[in-house]
This record gives sequence, structure tokens and C-alpha cells, in this order.
Amino acid sequence: MTKVEVSFKELLTCLQTAKMYGTSHPMFQKSLDKAYEAFEDAFSELNEIVIGIVGDELACGKEIFFDLGKLLRPAIIYLKERNIERLAFSRALSKDELGKFIGVISGPKEDFKGSPQELLTLAGINNISIGKLKVGPDHDGGELNLDKPNLYDFSVEKVAQVVSSVLNLEKIDPRLLRLSLNNIIDSLSMQRQELLKLATVKRYDVEVYVHMLNVAIFAMYFSSRLGFEKNEVLDIGVAALFHDIGKMYISRKTLHKPDKLSEQEFNRIKSHTVLGAEFMFRYVDTLGTLPVVVSFEHHLKYDMSGYPRMPLLKKQHIVSAIVSICDVYDALSQRRGYKQDYSPDVVYNIMNKDRGTAFDPALLDKFFQFMGFWPIGAVVALNDGSIALVREENDSDIRRPKIEVISPEEKRRSVDLVQEPSLSIERYLNPWKEGKEYLKFT
Ligand SMILES: [Fe+2]
Ligand SMILES: [Fe+2]
Repeated sequence: MTKVEVSFKELLTCLQTAKMYGTSHPMFQKSLDKAYEAFEDAFSELNEIVIGIVGDELACGKEIFFDLGKLLRPAIIYLKERNIERLAFSRALSKDELGKFIGVISGPKEDFKGSPQELLTLAGINNISIGKLKVGPDHDGGELNLDKPNLYDFSVEKVAQVVSSVLNLEKIDPRLLRLSLNNIIDSLSMQRQELLKLATVKRYDVEVYVHMLNVAIFAMYFSSRLGFEKNEVLDIGVAALFHDIGKMYISRKTLHKPDKLSEQEFNRIKSHTVLGAEFMFRYVDTLGTLPVVVSFEHHLKYDMSGYPRMPLLKKQHIVSAIVSICDVYDALSQRRGYKQDYSPDVVYNIMNKDRGTAFDPALLDKFFQFMGFWPIGAVVALNDGSIALVREENDSDIRRPKIEVISPEEKRRSVDLVQEPSLSIERYLNPWKEGKEYLKFT
């Protein structure tokens, strides 16, 4: 690897650290020290380091950085999303400037809508310039290609790869996994509406994997709303992601059997908790103990019934409690549109029946307060017979969101149900069945 490549690699590592821990964390300082050292080393040979994105590659002069491997694609997408195609660092660069620079580019992409260089000027950074590539013969300088995979898709794919590496007992890079989960959550911008859409989107045909990823995303959203720190939220995401890994060892035939299971089959399914814990135990060095605990405990209940039986244990770990709520929520929501039609109110009622037995009551209340009762975008029938779309939740009353009446045509308008007590939601319309014809209005 050339000195420039090393500096760029350290810069990306530092950027990841900033995104995960924030720039005031000692971990960030440590990685900034390393990055600056690498830059100083490169400046011993060059007065200016210029890095450009050419097509899908990163290049310095005529060299293309092939060696940076898996770090590169997300970095390219990340920079392009921030309108950055060219980065130039001059020799007078100070460590303080480099640190501020990373702080600036770790911000949300919306900040970069105008001129990215202006952000640097505002932060007092004089020895770095960023922006678009100069217009050249094979570059039209126009808008960036929108059909390229975005950071979300890319990160979902990375997470899938890590899961399959774990299944093959291969080495994994825990940093890459955390970064990918971090990117997923960032690109969903923690919006409830985006989260709820997930439950209906099937990107991969491996059902268990979709469920694991959904639960990870719900658990990260839930824990961050509960006030956990970013760092902890990522730990929780990793543990939630692997909660059902033990299921990958149970035959698909048993897992998806439509009729009643024999006792033996049921015991086999129950064993996914212990199998998963044993499995994650091999990754304690890289992923810590939380995935082991959560795999083991996620079917235990608040009143300590459930499985595996743990007579000596007094209380479920808080993260297991969080994951078990998200787990049941996703499992029930996935049934929507299939044979059993589990509408959001049915899911809510089923889960609330177990409030205080399966679920910690305070935690369950918080969950629905954050997730809302009727999903954004849902088609609902009102008590006056009209049909509406749910547009925005009201924190004061989760059952009375802001809606848009779409049918009949002459009644079209926006209504805040908190402001209009006479009107209420009566029924959820399945978007694959009776709700379908109204979706063309969205
Ligand atoms: Fe499970
Ligand atoms: Fe599960």
C-alpha cells in the first residue's frame, strides 16, 4: 500500500469512529492521531494529496486504490452522497483541522446540499478542499447517477455477508458490521414510517434473515428512543441481529411446517436459543457477550416463564427484554397479508394481552408510544364511512394520528384526529386486498 493509500485508509477508519462514537470520545482521538501520523508520513513525499472519485474507483494521480478493498465502496457512496468527488489536502494541514474536517463530513448528507467547501470554510478549515471533479472529457459534471446502489442497500448486503460468514464460522470484521448497522439506521433517519415499511419489504428470500435484520433495526430504533447511547445502540443491534441464528440449524421443514408440531419438533425449535448461544459464544472475542445472552434469553418472559427454563435466574437482561418485544412485533406483523390477517390493532391487542406476563409493562407501553399504533401510510376506514391514509402520528394519542381522507373524492382533506373527536379510525384495510384500490391515491 502506498503512503497515500494508508493515509486515506486511516482517514476512513477515523470517519467510522466519529460516526460511531462521536468526535469527543477517546477512541476518536486515538484514531485521529493515527490518521494524522499517516498524513505526515505521506507529506514527506508530497506537497499536496489529491484524491478523486473516478467512476466507481478512488484514485490519486494515475493510481487507483484497489487494495483498500471492502472499505472503498461504502466510502465512495458516502462521499458521493455528500457531493464530494475530489479531496485535496495540503502540507500545512494541522491535526486540529483534520479532526474538524472529519467532524464535518460525518454529518448528515442534507448538510451538503449547497457547496461542501463552504462547510469547511465555516469550520475554519483552510488546508483541505473538497467538491466536484473538474468537468473533463469523460465526465459530464451533471447529477450523480441515481440508479447506483445506495448506502442502505449496500449496508444491508454487508450485514447479510457477515451473517453468512458467522454461519460458516469464518472470521468477521466487527467494525464493518457495526458500521453497516450504523449506516442502515442513518439512512433510515430513524423515521418510524421508514421502519414500518420494512416489515413489508422482502429484499432477501431467506425469511429468517429478513426477520433477524428487522428485529435488529427495530431494537436499534427502540433503544435509541429509550435513551441508550449510540455505542450501546450498536451493541444492541448486533445482539438483536443474531438472536435467531440458532434457527439456521433447524430444518426448514420443521420451521415452516403449517400443521401442528409434534412435541419432539417443538423441542427442536425451542433449542434454537441454546444452539444460538453456543454459536455466538465462539464470537465472544469479536462481538462480546451480549449476542450470547440475547440468543439464550429472548424467549424467556418477563415473569420468567418461557424457555429455556432458568429456575435460578431472577430477571431477563434488559436487552433480551427489548429484543423479545421487537421479535414478537415483527413475527406478528409479518403475518399481515397472509392467511391470518394481523392488522396493527390486532398485533397491538395480542401483545397487550401479555403485558405484565410476557412483557415488561412499562417497556411495552414505551414501544408502542414510539412505534405508533397505526402505521404511517396505512389505509383505514373511518366511522363516517370514508377512507383515509395515515399521514403522521400524534404522540399525545397513538390511536388518533393525522390522516388524509382520500375517498369519497368530494371529502378529500387533511384531518388531525386529535382536533376532531367526532371522527375516528374504525378499521385497517389490508393493502394487498380491500385496501389495494385506494393505494393508487398515494
Ligand atoms: Fe427466536
Ligand atoms: Fe425471532
